[in-house]
Amino acid sequence: MQGKICVVTGANSGLGKATSHKLAEMNAHVIMVCRNKEKGMKALEEIKEATGNNSIDLMICDFASRKSIHKFAEDYKLKYKRLDALIINHGIFNLKLQRTDDGIESMFAVNHLGSFLLMNLLLEIIKASSPSRIIIVSSDIYKQVRKMNLHDYNFEKRKFRGFIAYAESKLYSIMISNLLSDKLKETDVTINSVHPGFTKTNMGMNNRMYKIFYPLLGIFAKTPEKGAQTSIYLASSPEVEGISGRHFINKKQTETNEISQNKEFQQELWQLSKRLCNLE
Ligand SMILES: NC(=O)c1ccc[n+]([C@@H]2O[C@H](COP(=O)([O-])OP(=O)(O)OC[C@H]3O[C@@H](n4cnc5c(N)ncnc54)[C@H](OP(=O)(O)O)[C@@H]3O)[C@@H](O)[C@H]2O)c1
Repeated sequence: MQGKICVVTGANSGLGKATSHKLAEMNAHVIMVCRNKEKGMKALEEIKEATGNNSIDLMICDFASRKSIHKFAEDYKLKYKRLDALIINHGIFNLKLQRTDDGIESMFAVNHLGSFLLMNLLLEIIKASSPSRIIIVSSDIYKQVRKMNLHDYNFEKRKFRGFIAYAESKLYSIMISNLLSDKLKETDVTINSVHPGFTKTNMGMNNRMYKIFYPLLGIFAKTPEKGAQTSIYLASSPEVEGISGRHFINKKQTETNEISQNKEFQQELWQLSKRLCNLE
């Protein structure tokens, strides 16, 4: 990965930190994107110290805020002239209904819209750097979604259920990855989604009930290093050159369900997301 520029979001903890660490070990120039400067610096210093790679940068972005995403993208384009691998990894899981300052349900806003806006704002530089790759960390929990609820993405008509809101946001990652891969067919940019598997990280630890049961559940969890392997594989391996629009588990391609593959739903999601992000 020498000479490659890799951006990892949600890089200070869990899977993002393990992904950044491994890519730094492989000599990539890693840009760790975090919302909290202190936490980000701490993780960056640890990775520098452990890998001996000093070519690691920290940039700040809060994916709950459109303004912050625009600022990050502008700063990035001023500082860097290329982007070889974008690993969209950040994510949250809330059992209770929370809304962003823009009034949008937080998992839809951070996990889906934040990723969507980021990809769109960086797409030109990614295309200009091709062959280049986008990797989006989803979850197989998406299968819990039985029908599309885009008409009520904001949980105004439905009773809020945290697992469903999380699952929907992860379904949307797969759908956008699939549709964007169609749109990028004539380019040398690939985009794939990943299910890392159940991994022991900070995910969900902001929920009291989850935290109580976690010591039991955690016995079955992978380490972040193991969980991050498929993202790292997709960002770096020659084996996946040219492969796009696919979903990966344990470094293997796997079929996703009918809802996720439905082109009409994908278009509907794309249009809604564009409108909510104020994109042309
Ligand atoms: N762990 C699992 O079992 C599992 C399974 C399937 C999929 N996933 C997916 O894997 C990805 C990584 O999660 P993880 O398990 O490594 O959890 P984690 O340890 O909680 O890491 C999540 C990262 O996202 C960042 N983040 C959260 N909200 C953000 C925001 N508004 N703006 C910027 N960054 C934000 C967090 O920053 P802070 O530290 O500042 O909060 C943290 O760096 C997520 O997309 C998750 O959905 C995880």
